[in-house]
Amino acid sequence: MFSDVLEYVLISEEDIQKRVEELASRINRDYKGKDLVLICILKGGVMFLSDLTRKISLPHSFDMVGAESYGSQVVSSGHVMITKDVDISLENKDVLLIEDIYDSGRTLKVVKDLIQVHSPASLHICALLWKEKEKRAHNVPIKYIGFKIPDLFVVGYGLDFNEKFRNLPCIGILKKALYT
Ligand code: IMP
Ligand code: MG
Repeated sequence: MFSDVLEYVLISEEDIQKRVEELASRINRDYKGKDLVLICILKGGVMFLSDLTRKISLPHSFDMVGAESYGSQVVSSGHVMITKDVDISLENKDVLLIEDIYDSGRTLKVVKDLIQVHSPASLHICALLWKEKEKRAHNVPIKYIGFKIPDLFVVGYGLDFNEKFRNLPCIGILKKALYT
């Protein structure tokens, strides 16, 4: 089904769903009795948030922040633009940031700083993917990690190339012909 666009599948739909369930159980345990708010970083974190929120059995809220960094390139532009702030109050809430991928760390640094301004009781990060890198622009502590992956450009399950391929239910490596 994905052979037209993907060189190969890196993480299957089944493996993603299984891992999301495991992360949700840990979050259920760790946030018992807390006032949990999930904050999704648009747009890449949308699929992850929508699966995770439905597997968390604790009462909680969610909201979104908009951050753009990639433009149409497969390498980070180095600039992070906040395009949307949260709509709900985060004061004294236990905030968990939901991000698709920890790459250069720029997006997470900027979004973390933005959330701190809203005075949450606690602030942690849950990233579906962690790219193995020798050096990052910012080292940000990640509390929950879905998968560690090699330093390759991936698409699917929210991650895009030029705003496309977010809809794939798995994560894979894009065919070279599609971006050269
Ligand atoms: P960072 O600011 O460099 O850490 O990049 C974070 C953002 O860049 C993520 O939220 C993604 O939207 C995007 N990104 C980083 N790596 C990839 C990738 O391999 N494929 C698609 N998008 C990526
Ligand atoms: Mg992107």
